Amino acid sequence: MAKSSIILLISLNLTFLSIISFVTATNYYQSLSPSMLGFQEEKFTHLHFYFHDIVTGQKPSMVFVAEPNGKIDGTLPFGTVVAMDDPLTAGPERDSKLIGKAQGIYTSISQGEMGLMMVMTMAFTHGDFNGSTLSILGRNMILTEPLREMPIVGGTGAFRFVRGYTQAKFHSVDYSTGDATVEYDIFVFHY
Ligand SMILES: *[C@@H]1O[C@H](CO)[C@@H](O)[C@H](O)[C@H]1NC(C)=O
Repeated sequence: MAKSSIILLISLNLTFLSIISFVTATNYYQSLSPSMLGFQEEKFTHLHFYFHDIVTGQKPSMVFVAEPNGKIDGTLPFGTVVAMDDPLTAGPERDSKLIGKAQGIYTSISQGEMGLMMVMTMAFTHGDFNGSTLSILGRNMILTEPLREMPIVGGTGAFRFVRGYTQAKFHSVDYSTGDATVEYDIFVFHY
C-alpha cells in the first residue's frame, strides 16, 4: 500500500473516531416519559392566604438594603431595595395560622407612580405543600392598581413545572407605619 493511502486511511479513521467520540461526549441527555418521574395528570390549584410586610415593632419582617442617596425615610423612592422574610398566614390576622414565608427582595422601579418589582420565593410549611415553593417575579403597582397581577415563574416540590399567576390586593395598610397585609390569590397548573 502506498504511503499516501495509508495516511488517507489513518486520517479517515481519525475522523471516524472523532465523530464517535463527539457523539459519546455530547450524549448528556435522554428522552424520558413524564410518568417515569411521576408527572401524571396536571392539577389546577387555587391558593389563598395573607402576606404581612411588617415594618415596625420589635421584629420587622423587612429591612431596607439600600436607598438612593443613602437616606432611608420609608417612602420607597425610586431605587430603594428591601429584603423581606414576610409571614404568610391562612387568615388576615397576623397571629392566624402560619402557612409559609415570602422570602426575597422588592425594588422601587418607577419614577412615576409608585411601583415595585417583586422577586420572591413563597416557601410553604403547612399542609400538602409543606416543603414546596413558588417563585414570583413581577411588577407591583401598589398605589395605582387595587388588584395587581404577577406571574409565577417557577416552583419546586409539588410545584415542579408550575405555570400560573397571582393576584394581590391590600387587605389593610397603615400608611403612617408602612405595615401592610396583602391578600394573595394564586392560580397554578402543576403536577
Ligand atoms: C413540614 O415538613 C417538615 C419537614 O418534613 C416537618 O418537620 C414539619 O413538621 C412539617 N410541618 C407541618 C405543619 O406539617
